[in-house]
Amino acid sequence: MGYDKQQATEEFIRWSESYDRCILQWLLFGPSHRALISRIRERFGDRPIRVLDAGCGTGQFGEKILKALPNAQVFGMDLVAEMLRGGARRWSSHRDTLMPVQGDSEHLPFADGSFDVVTCANSFHHYPDQQRAVTEMHRVLKPGGRLMLVDGFRDAPWGWFIYDVCVESIEGNVHHCSRSRMRDLFANAGFVETNQKVHRGPAPFLLTEGTARTASTLGRPHFKVSTPGVRQHSRA
Ligand SMILES: C[S@@+](CC[C@H](N)C(=O)[O-])C[C@H]1O[C@@H](n2cnc3c(N)ncnc32)[C@H](O)[C@@H]1O
Repeated sequence: MGYDKQQATEEFIRWSESYDRCILQWLLFGPSHRALISRIRERFGDRPIRVLDAGCGTGQFGEKILKALPNAQVFGMDLVAEMLRGGARRWSSHRDTLMPVQGDSEHLPFADGSFDVVTCANSFHHYPDQQRAVTEMHRVLKPGGRLMLVDGFRDAPWGWFIYDVCVESIEGNVHHCSRSRMRDLFANAGFVETNQKVHRGPAPFLLTEGTARTASTLGRPHFKVSTPGVRQHSRA
């Protein structure tokens, strides 16, 4: 049976009250946020950047971005109003720099070329049409902007057991992409210079990054896989 947005909505309405205190903050969400922030810093330094955090939940990650990069302006977007409401204190204490928006990652409520960075942390497996979501993320990025997407890494036995067996038994028929499927989604959406890194740990995750096409990189997908022992892929 397929997975739909109604299931995601019901799950996160239930979870919204306790979300910020759950053990996954320590096991998965916190480590994945740290990995993303370090990549944003490496790539953009202290430049003033506009960031869209798609599937932002209660805005925890958005607030961490602001602490690490005080010149950033972050839009946190989520499907579920109750999750956004769970972060009410955050939105109001960073009124001009951290803005909540209710919306769907498959239909982003933003104009073309609006952001320097789109982040998406631990949300992507909930999207029934993942290609559409990545294509939308490409659309709202400025040419040369960067998509940084983290989701559970399910290609190795431990990750497969956690995400495809345990998480699916709790969340239903969600879909954690394989590494190669994620690369294809990025390439089909028009991303270039895509690279991937697997972060090991109790809950392994995959960080995939790609650069939005510019006129000069049109038609030049290029993949770099930085997992030790994994073949480099290149489709110049
Ligand atoms: C596990 S939480 C992750 C929250 C946050 N990104 C983090 O890392 O702490 C997944 C979030 O994705 C949101 N979500 C699910 N489907 C969505 C969709 N189609 N568009 C936008 N957000 C969605 C859920 O409402 C939920 O807040």
